[in-house]
Amino acid sequence: MQVPFFAFRDFPAGLQQRVEQALIEELRRNQLILGPTVTVFEQEFSRFLGGGEVIGVGNGYDALVLSLKSLGVQRGDEVLVPANGYIATINAVQQLGATPVFAEPDPHSFNLTAATAASVITSKTNVILPIHLYGQSCELEELLQLCEANGLHLVEDFAQAQGALYKGKPVGTFGKINATSFYPTKNLGAVGDGGAVVTQDEELAHWVRQHHNYGQSKRYEYAQVGVNSRLDSLQAAVLREKLACLNKLNAERRSLAQRYHQALANVGDITLPLPSSTNIEHIYHLYVIQTGRRDALQQYLGQGQIQTLIHYPIPPHYQKAYQHLGYKKGDFPVAEKMAQTCLSLPLFPGMTHAEQDYIVEQIQRFFAS
Ligand SMILES: Cc1ncc(COP(=O)(O)O)c(C=O)c1O
Repeated sequence: MQVPFFAFRDFPAGLQQRVEQALIEELRRNQLILGPTVTVFEQEFSRFLGGGEVIGVGNGYDALVLSLKSLGVQRGDEVLVPANGYIATINAVQQLGATPVFAEPDPHSFNLTAATAASVITSKTNVILPIHLYGQSCELEELLQLCEANGLHLVEDFAQAQGALYKGKPVGTFGKINATSFYPTKNLGAVGDGGAVVTQDEELAHWVRQHHNYGQSKRYEYAQVGVNSRLDSLQAAVLREKLACLNKLNAERRSLAQRYHQALANVGDITLPLPSSTNIEHIYHLYVIQTGRRDALQQYLGQGQIQTLIHYPIPPHYQKAYQHLGYKKGDFPVAEKMAQTCLSLPLFPGMTHAEQDYIVEQIQRFFAS
């Protein structure tokens, strides 16, 4: 048997056909940029999140840049980010000339915590930018308290967590202004690039709405020097179909994760990605185990035609691009250990139980040998 790390399957059944139909209809509507379908999707996503303004933008990276820019983040400012994050989040800070400041994640949840963030706050810090990594919410209440106590803004990166809950409420609605990505393999994925900014603050929403479309206030009138970063109508049409079944897609991911939890409990030295607290509903964008024998296990699974990936093999402070920040090896032992021990197993809606059972069997066999 061959198991891909990720595949687009027709799940729930009929979705593929609805997506294709939506694309054809949208194409025939001929309002491909900022058409009415974009507005409808923005309203539907807002409803899904329980309110607030949603502005569709070109991708998740732009959503982060626009969010930070709307808060006035600029050269001289420091923005706290997790030391184990995805590079896009850090690049967004750097893009504005501000300084990304890394803080250790929690070794079990993989997420930035208030305790580690607190230890690196300085007089220059103005934003804490946590990532809800792999589909699991950070402990938001503590992060919000920390922000409040220090006069900082919270900006959530929920690119990997659309529909994940914290204390029963969707992530992406706790920070002052928040960013997500609709990259095709995300839990809510388009068929190309896409992203969104989400905020409860009408003034910030108004600023982003102008800024993402060249700063236009009225047709041919420009109130500010903006950029071009728009969600296109074809992506919005697809996202409407996917959003309508996002809860089902996430439930399927959770159910597959549950099967892994049960089958892999007490196998070798594996640490399972169990939800880190009862405050959290994890939606398993990725199923990331940790093991001291990571490289050998990955090789073994590869020989058995099972594709796995590592999110992420090189911590950001080791990257050539970030040497100017002056960090060195050993500065973030938790993040560094994660880079050596974490392994993402295949998990995607439509993956069969037979495929999953085969993966489990191969993992058991590896640790038994
Ligand atoms: C946590 C995180 N932030 C930001 C991004 C950037 O999103 P995009 O690829 O849409 O620019 C991604 C994914 O790609 C991501 O996983």
